[in-house]
Parts: sequence; C-alpha cells; structure tokens
Amino acid sequence: MVAKLIDGRAVARKVRGEYKLRVDQLLSQGVRPGLAVILVGDDAASQVYVRNKIRACDEIGIHSQTIRFASDTPQSQLIDTIQALNADPSIHGILVQLPLPKGFEMGRVLETISQDKDVDGFHLYNVGGLITGSTVFPPCTPYGVQKLLESEGIPIEGQNVVVVGASNIVGKPMALMLTAKEATVCICHAKTRDLAQFTILADILVVAAGRPNLILPQMVKTGAVVIDVGINRLPDGRLVGDVDFDGVRLKASYITPVPGGVGPMTVTMLLCNTVQAAERRLLSARAG
Ligand code: GUN
Repeated sequence: MVAKLIDGRAVARKVRGEYKLRVDQLLSQGVRPGLAVILVGDDAASQVYVRNKIRACDEIGIHSQTIRFASDTPQSQLIDTIQALNADPSIHGILVQLPLPKGFEMGRVLETISQDKDVDGFHLYNVGGLITGSTVFPPCTPYGVQKLLESEGIPIEGQNVVVVGASNIVGKPMALMLTAKEATVCICHAKTRDLAQFTILADILVVAAGRPNLILPQMVKTGAVVIDVGINRLPDGRLVGDVDFDGVRLKASYITPVPGGVGPMTVTMLLCNTVQAAERRLLSARAG
C-alpha cells in the first residue's frame, strides 16, 4: 500500500477562496474583518509565523494590525493594549503569539482577551467549550486537522484515534474535538511507556510531539490515516515532521507531508475564525 498524500496547500487554497467570498459579503455590508496580532520579544520562529498570518490576512481582504513589544515590556502595558483592542470596533480577532518571554503570566494575558475576539481559542471560556462541544473558536491547528480529514471524506465516528502530544495548543484540543465527533481517543505524551503499543491501534494517528522520526513504520497499523503536525528543522537545514515519512507512507492509507500538510491549514483556520467573529458581531448588532 502507498498512502495518498493529503495536500494541505490545496485544501488551504480552497478554504481561503470560500472565506474570501465571505469577506466580500461582509465588505458589501460595510464591515471589514480585522485581526490584531501581538508579538512580544524576538523569538525567530514567532516572527516567521506572525509574518505568514499577516500576509494571509492581506490575501483575503482582512484588515490586520501587528503590535510588537520588547521582551522587557511590563505585563501591565500588554494587558492595557489588549483591553484597548477589546473595545476597538475595527478589530474582530485578537491573537497573542506564543510563547511569551519569561516573566509573563500566559494565563492572565490570554484571559484578558474578550471571549468574542479570542480567534486562537485559548481563553479558558473557549477551552471549556471544547469539553461541551460548544466552543466558539476551535484552536487553529486541530481545527485545520479536522478540515483535512473532512476534505478527504475520512470518517471519524467510531474510529480509534491516537494523539501523540498533549500540548494545550494541539494535542489536548485535538483529542476533545475528535471525541466530540464520537471517535475513541487516546492521548500519549512524553511520559507514555511503550508508545508503539498505543499507536499500532490507531485508525487515525495524529502526531504533534516535536521529535523527528518519532513514528516508525512498525508503530503504524496498515491502512492507518497519519497526520503529522510536527515541524522540525534538521541540522542540515531540512524541514521534517515527527513521522518517518518515507517508511510510513508505504503502510498508511493517507499521510500528510511536511511541509505542505497541516502547516498551511493553521493560518487558514485563523482566517476562518476571524471572518466568523466579524459575521457573528454583525448578526448580534442586527439582533440587538
Ligand atoms: N505558537 C505556536 N502555535 C501557535 C498558535 O496557534 N497560536 C499562537 N498564538 N501562538 C502559537
């Protein structure tokens, strides 16, 4: 068996096209969706991610604003800025790029963001909504994985899903979102003993551990769907995921490449959440 490649760039292009039309609809009603991105410090990867987010906004007509702070900025200044953005009618979504430099209280900062503008879905209110299946803003990376599975018509209900990685940004929300779709979900993490005894049971294996070659062919069930969320830069400069792609693609039924798999979807789902925030505000303004 040779796995079918899930082309994240193609799916992202299609979804962005659909959302561009929704932006045009909003523009025709006098609303331009707006996203504010806050970047604190000079983490190199974060700079790249933020640049990509801003460029993607431009492409579909979302107004964007980047606010940069030095890493020694007092937390109170960051909080004041978020409160001002909460009150700014031209802004529908607010994103604080993570990780924050040492000394910042991430929870305190994220909880300052208005629940209605929390397009990253990291506010406790939206995290709680994942438990009940009623979150307003699904976190962007797992939301992107869900879209990729949908795009290929891969069934989720009743499937055995193993998520490798228990981060708040990917692993935990992913597990909750697939549980809501009635999969049987297991979360593995860095302390899991004998990872292979879990991964081998997976009909759908989602890997977000940040370790190149963590998943080898003998750890994967024949015909499994393998979603690689990892992005690792090797010493020779190559970008790879967490899965031994060349080996596992001979065993899986579907696999996502790195780059070009999940990555393009993360930014795309941020655009979706921002457009939806603007649509929701317009609806509630009409109702109110
Ligand atoms: N850092 C790594 N991934 C993310 C993300 O999805 N959102 C934010 N805000 N920061 C991140």
